[in-house]
Amino acid sequence: MRLVFIGPPGIGKGTYASAVSKVYGIPHISTGDIFREEIKQGTELGRKVKEYVERGELVPDEIVIEVVRKRLLQEDCKRGFILDGFPRTLKQAEALDKITKIDLVLNFKAPDEVIIERLSGRLICSKCGAIYHRKWMPPKKPGICDKCGGPLITREDDRPEVIRHRLELFRRQFAPIIEYYRRKGLLVDVDASEQAEIVVPRVLKVLEEHGFKPPAKS
Ligand code: AP5
Repeated sequence: MRLVFIGPPGIGKGTYASAVSKVYGIPHISTGDIFREEIKQGTELGRKVKEYVERGELVPDEIVIEVVRKRLLQEDCKRGFILDGFPRTLKQAEALDKITKIDLVLNFKAPDEVIIERLSGRLICSKCGAIYHRKWMPPKKPGICDKCGGPLITREDDRPEVIRHRLELFRRQFAPIIEYYRRKGLLVDVDASEQAEIVVPRVLKVLEEHGFKPPAKS
């Protein structure tokens, strides 16, 4: 089951991908998470991408494509994967087709006000990357991750001026990708304007309707 989740920043791709990953036992691969981790570790890749990520700009195609190519070669991707945040340009979409075959692309949609509200309330765990929202998905103890006890932080690119810039960039860049997958017959639109408790089961239903049965629990 090789899936791509696309949609504007903050629509909830990471939240839904993490839920699907648990149900189907396949890895959730977020290029944004990979870059944030490399920045945190201060690696050579992290130094190369830091400025782009913190300003909400796209990282150059060659860098992202190479990162994804290497990641998809890993053993845990043999049974499938969920790509979250990749591809973001036509060049990336074409490169992905050369690396592997994609089964389905979920295109998440919601009005801008909903997205801005989600991003401005987002908190992430600086240790394990778990995602929370101050209002909609608060942690049990303020500022502390329920899963690993790590400190919760606000992402550098969730500042209001960067959020606006990321949304504009999305609008300019994304139409050709949506069209690319629609023409291939792989695109399914998913309404993500409601709460995650409603959207996650909706995503699982779409997957089942497309013939992807979750593995039996042992
Ligand atoms: P990336 O990390 O991919 O950021 P993004 O696409 O902007 O997406 P987000 O992670 O911001 O949002 P999301 O849709 O996953 O929402 P989430 O689940 O967190 O990329 C960051 C940067 O890396 C880019 O700007 C770029 O620089 C670089 N980069 C990455 N990939 C690249 C590529 N392919 N090419 C070039 N550069 C690349 O949810 C948001 C909030 O809402 C959370 O607080 C969550 O709790 C809450 N929430 C989620 N769903 C719901 C719901 N249904 N109801 C209520 N609240 C909800």
